[in-house]
Amino acid sequence: MAESMKGLHRTCRCAEVTEQMEGSTITLMGWVQKVRNIGGVIFVDLRDRSGIMQLLFENDERGVDAEGFDKAASLRAEYVLAATGVVEKRGGEVNKNLATGSLELRVGLFRILSESEVPPFEVKEDSKTRDEVRLKYRYLDLRRPDIQRNLMLRSRVAMLTRKFFAEEGFLEIETPMLGKTTPEGARDYLVPSRIHPGCFYGLPQSPQLYKQLLMCSGYDRYIQIARCFRDEDLRADRQPEFTQIDMELSFVDVDDVIDVNERFLAYLFKEVLGVTVPLPIERITWQEAMDRFGSDKPDMRFGMELCDVSDIVKDCGFAVFTNALASGGSVRGINAKGQGGMPRKKIDKLVEFVRGYGAKGLAYIAINADGTRKSSFAKFMTEEEMDALVKAMDGENGDLLLFAADSKKLVYDVLGALRLELAKQMDLLDKNEYRFVWVTEFPLLEWNDEENRYQAMHHPFTMLMEEDLQYLDSDPGRVRAKAYDIVLNGNEIGGGSVRIHQDDIQEKMFEKLGFTKEQAHEQFGFLLDAFKYGVPPHAGLAYGLDRLVMLMAKVDSIRDVIAFPKVKDASCLMTESPSMADDKQLEELHLIVRNESAE
Ligand code: AMO
Ligand code: AMP
Repeated sequence: MAESMKGLHRTCRCAEVTEQMEGSTITLMGWVQKVRNIGGVIFVDLRDRSGIMQLLFENDERGVDAEGFDKAASLRAEYVLAATGVVEKRGGEVNKNLATGSLELRVGLFRILSESEVPPFEVKEDSKTRDEVRLKYRYLDLRRPDIQRNLMLRSRVAMLTRKFFAEEGFLEIETPMLGKTTPEGARDYLVPSRIHPGCFYGLPQSPQLYKQLLMCSGYDRYIQIARCFRDEDLRADRQPEFTQIDMELSFVDVDDVIDVNERFLAYLFKEVLGVTVPLPIERITWQEAMDRFGSDKPDMRFGMELCDVSDIVKDCGFAVFTNALASGGSVRGINAKGQGGMPRKKIDKLVEFVRGYGAKGLAYIAINADGTRKSSFAKFMTEEEMDALVKAMDGENGDLLLFAADSKKLVYDVLGALRLELAKQMDLLDKNEYRFVWVTEFPLLEWNDEENRYQAMHHPFTMLMEEDLQYLDSDPGRVRAKAYDIVLNGNEIGGGSVRIHQDDIQEKMFEKLGFTKEQAHEQFGFLLDAFKYGVPPHAGLAYGLDRLVMLMAKVDSIRDVIAFPKVKDASCLMTESPSMADDKQLEELHLIVRNESAE
């Protein structure tokens, strides 16, 4: 039977009970975690979002009456209780794992506010329950203390973000969800219009165009914690809807954006985690990131940098190497320190791993502790050539040298991924260590093989480096952008750029991207028009809030910091969305659904 709350007021949360409150009468409310009935006494762990407090039920003059004791004996996990009683020192052993471990509440009166069926899994920390079950019963999963901590941390990050940027003179302005979509490169989510047959709104992939318009309108510093939608393949760090901390600033260049954001990150990490972020944060160019780490989001917590050995092996007898070089590729290696004793089977697994990234193989030299070597290609090389290669790789006794030979892009991809895989295996990744790096000077354009044209690496409004303007016609691939990413422990947590505010450059940019004047106007006419009426130079950046919180919470998936996430196929297991629309809705929206299976 569910009783009412009438006349009751919660004094505090469970874990807010302190030793100073000993002897006072308080009222707690929460869920039953555990019941221990030891005959004449019943102990109940009561849980709320703050933690746990032990309740004690005893049928005596200080405790409950006989009826109350029977009622206490009926309590089960996840029942919701209100309990009033006196705070006492625990009679039994102190529980050092609990903030309230030295205390208990001797209950005088209590009400069962609601009962619970037997839950499909126990609500507890680090549950081993399968993800599918957790997400189907997300409302129960969300009761788990670890997830609650994550969401409380997320709330604090959002609060401090607003506070910091407000104090820096940023205005929080909302932009529409129903609009024209912005070109961030993913597929759009569309919303059909009832009033305009055949027309669709696009959900924003980001507030990019709106925030640039706000700069045109003179708001000068904008911030928004904005929901964004992208219909792309999902991964541990990608959801179809996610949240950005999105900002834009007028009258600034790269350094100004970086400056305020470095101070923001230092503030946030100090306030939330007590972690000092040394400023300034290191900056490396995109080219350097690729050359040293094989990735534009390098994990800087460990070394194992790539080494270009193309020059050393260019005349050697190993055709795998020389053929790759002859066709314009590259040969690079990494040195897995101390891994020279890796069993053959494990090396074969690494070969399999790199094949997954498109590599044709992985050549290796294992240097034994005594200096002798095992290698998959020694027979193709002279002793001197091998010596030179080992030297170039800084190979010492006990090291494992691994090489990839292919197009430059593939070599970067393969060794970038291998470097991370080895770091995992070698246990080099400490979640308590936070290493930030800015990656700057991204290429402006990247070639799209399928569409046989250049596309913007960031988005079409990104400004190029003034000194590279001269190559825009002659060698577009060489032009660098005023774009920057902020990377934390190998995750791209944010990115942004200085925007083009000059008509002629924007027009040229559209031309390079293969837009006709008409197409550009049809898609972005309102922005181009706005730019005709006085536009300040502006720049901005957006963080992936989910990714940032994921790293701060030291978890492996953004799902663990989002209250109601979707699974890999973009569905929600709890609400079973997406779902079919009924005929009336479809009719109103002027839609007919094609029956794919009948075709
Ligand atoms: P960008 O596309 O780099 O830039 O996005 C900014 C940040 O958003 C996060 N992010 C995601 N997080 C979770 N799931 C996703 N599907 C997802 N996609 C992106 C990443 C990324 O760094 N308008 C520009 C910003 C600007 O130029 O100011 C933009 O959206 O952490
Ligand atoms: P093979 O001559 O094909 O037996 O290859 C000899 C060694 O070179 C094996 O260890 C292969 O895994 C490795 N190998 C083959 N192709 C490549 C490549 N593109 N890059 C690096 N190593 C390779």
